[in-house]
Formats: sequence, structure tokens, C-alpha cells
Amino acid sequence: MSINRRDFLKTGGLVLAGTALAGAWPRSAWSAPGARTREFRLRAELVKTDLGLGRPFTAWSYNGGPPGPEIRVTQGDMVRVVLENGLPEPTTIHWHGLPVPNAMDGVPGITQKPVPPGGSFVYEFPAEPAGTFIYHSHQGLQLDQGLYGALIVEPRRHGRGHDREYTLLLEDWATVDGGGPNATRRRPPSPMGGMMGGGMMGRGGGPPWEPVYDAYAVNGRAWPSVPPLMVKKGDRVKLRLCGAASATIFDLRLAGHALTVTHADGNPVQPVVTDVLRIGMGERYDVEFTADNPGYWLLGAYENGLGESGLKVPILYQGVKRSQPEPPDFPRGLRLATHESLQAAPGLERPGEADVAYRQVLSGGMHSSYWTINGRVYPDSDRLAVRQGQWVRLDYFNRSPMAHPMHLHGHFFRVMNPRLAPERWLTKDTVIVDPMRAVSIIFKADNPGNWFHHCHNLYHMEAGMADLVLYKSHKGEGT
Ligand code: C2O
Ligand code: CU
Repeated sequence: MSINRRDFLKTGGLVLAGTALAGAWPRSAWSAPGARTREFRLRAELVKTDLGLGRPFTAWSYNGGPPGPEIRVTQGDMVRVVLENGLPEPTTIHWHGLPVPNAMDGVPGITQKPVPPGGSFVYEFPAEPAGTFIYHSHQGLQLDQGLYGALIVEPRRHGRGHDREYTLLLEDWATVDGGGPNATRRRPPSPMGGMMGGGMMGRGGGPPWEPVYDAYAVNGRAWPSVPPLMVKKGDRVKLRLCGAASATIFDLRLAGHALTVTHADGNPVQPVVTDVLRIGMGERYDVEFTADNPGYWLLGAYENGLGESGLKVPILYQGVKRSQPEPPDFPRGLRLATHESLQAAPGLERPGEADVAYRQVLSGGMHSSYWTINGRVYPDSDRLAVRQGQWVRLDYFNRSPMAHPMHLHGHFFRVMNPRLAPERWLTKDTVIVDPMRAVSIIFKADNPGNWFHHCHNLYHMEAGMADLVLYKSHKGEGT
């Protein structure tokens, strides 16, 4: 993933930040006076891991993970992360969902030079707003090798409505040295593509198809070696669910309990009670349940469209002695929560009328292994020009047979679902666009820079499904 430098200079918005720039960033511009700085060190390196399955392989990790350590800060803190690259390749870190200053966004070739092996980089950004976020490498397919972790911003005021909480990173794994990018078994982009593109393994002939994953893990452990989440009868339990998988959408259900969705991509929603929650790559949902049904239960997942995924997380009540947890069943007629069934908690500024709108047709996977927006393959893709202060609408239409979790860097957007009444919207940063469906998002252009916008299926991103939102300079030269 790199962009032609000349192309960028033409746009007049080139930002290439080295380590020096991080130090030179005008702190006072965005750090509240008196904010305390929280410093973390993330060392990217190769490790032996086995997800608890007894088949060791080499994964890529931060600080010995996967996953990387949870970064937990308080709203208003300045976060300072020193990245040390102990990998054999260049790398960067992206703070997924947090609207950080552009130079801190961690996209190689767009917001910074990739950090070379042996090199380091200092990221600095304010922890704003509160919510559940993730961080991950934005270089190539490194996320699918294990380079991710959770980033939790706790609210300044602690009105905790729950008794205990767990962060769950939901992961898909090819348990071979080097992880997903080195998997030998790959699946065709779609059933159709498989028939038509037969024999083209997506190697040599184009970008790699996504792996056939052989393990699904939570926080780096796969069933049956996932340690149980302990609860006590009467507890209100909060789960921060993070879509850290590279190419898997999960439909989650907790046996014996309904789930109440409280936050989507870090933002509060009007609480919705559901049996099943759909979570895609890059999405986060906070859910709560009341521990009112003592036993030994499994939180399990269906992989959207493919049957039981193997992702299993045991939940054990204190004092209960049972050796086999009860799995969830998935009969017809369950309540399913997706972005379509949620709406933002009241109190948000109403989105304005769109000042500018761009159509984004998502396709690919039929005749080739490329994935496209408006028929174009990144970096030969659209530049979506915006001006600071504008309301910008993106109208997705998915003309392909697969779902695409679309992610915009640097901004939250409102999902304006045609199924929702016009006064209803949902604030997110990643939204699943289902096959043959339309979804519109609208965002306020309030964070100047050059921002990546792409499908969060890593293999689709690498195969071209990406473009750029570019702020026109105020002076207007060259734009
Ligand atoms: Cu989570 Cu462009 O990334
Ligand atoms: Cu996609």
C-alpha cells in the first residue's frame, strides 16, 4: 500500500511525517492545558505462539502478544506511544476509530513514512472521545499476522453502570508461520469467482485471495483453551467486543442470556436488547448482560453465511461446578442486531444537508481477484475532495456478492440508513455494506488532512478496495 509521491504532490496536500515531526507537532493546538501524558512502548517483533492449541507457529506481535497489550487511558489524556520496529519489514500503527491528527494516523505513504526495521516512531494524540477502539499495523497484511490490540478510552467521569468488564478481541487465524499472508489454503473471492477464476490462486495472477482460516481466537487463545470469563450472580457485565479479524464477520450469541447493545464503534446508542449481534472487521460494540442465569455458558459465533465459526468464549458463574459449557443455539427467528437496528443516543448535533456527495460503487470478486470502488483499484482510485466545514455524504452501493465493512479514517460518520426514518442515525466509523444493498453515510469535514477510506476486509483492501478523502487547502492553490 503505497501511493505514488508525484501524484500526491499534485494534490498539494502531501504530509510525510518522520520521527522529527512527531516531536515538532504543535501540542498546544490540541492538548488540553494540564492534560497528563500517558506513555507506552510497543515493540513489534516475531514470536512463537500456539493460541493454546499446541501447534506452535510464528506470529507477529506487539510486546510478545498477540494481542498487543491493552492501552487503557482516560478521556483528555495525551497518549504517547513509542513504536519500535523489531520486524523484518517496515511497519506503522493506526489508531482505528480515534480521530487523531492526520500526521499521527499511521498510514504508510499517506500520513507517514513506514518505520524501517530497527527504526522507531513516536505517536502522540489526545484520548478523545471515550470509547472502545483498536490499534493495528497498517502495513500490508500485517494485521492478519497478529499486529493489533485494544485501545480503551475511559470517560472522565466514572458513572460505571456495570460490576465487571472484559475486552474481547475477536480474531481469525491461519496457524502457519507468518499467519494469514502465508496461508497455503485460500478461498475464492465468491462462489461465482471461484468457478470463473478456477485455477487462478490469486497469486502471480493478482492479489492474494483471503485465507481459509483454521482457528478463531479471542485475545490470542482458541477454544478449548480460552480461559473462562468469571461472573457472579447478579453482576451487570460489560463486554467490549472488538472486530480484530482480517476477513471474518461474526454473528455472536451468548447461551442463556440476551445482550444489550450500549455502544457502537465507541459511541453511545439507545440500548437495544438482542439475541445475536453481528460484528465485522474493524467494528466495535459494547454490550452488557445481567448474570441472572447461573451456569457454565458459551459465547459462540456463526460466521456470516458460512455456519459455525469455532469462535467460543466460556462464561462461568462463581461456585458453579460443571465441566462442559452450554453452547448457544441458532434457531430461526432470533433477534439480530446490526447497524440497521441501532440508533445514536440522543443529544447529537443534527447532520446538515450534504454540501457534497460521492457515489461509491463497491464491486469485484467476479472475474478477477481485484476489488474496486467505482471500478478503480487503489492507488489508481478516486480522490474525494472536501473542504473543511462541509458535510460530506458517501453513497455506497454494493454490487458484489460479499459484504464490505467500509472504514473512514479520522472521522466519525452518521449512518443514514434508508430503512431508518430520516431523524434516526447512528454514529460509527466502520459500517458493513451488505451484498446488493445501498448505505449512505454523512460526516462533517472537521479534521484536515489526507485520509484513507477502505474496506476493512484486509484482503479486499490490499486488492484495491480503497480511495482517499483529501481536504482542499484553504488557499485553494493546486486544487
Ligand atoms: Cu482499521 Cu485503515 O484501518
Ligand atoms: Cu470488502
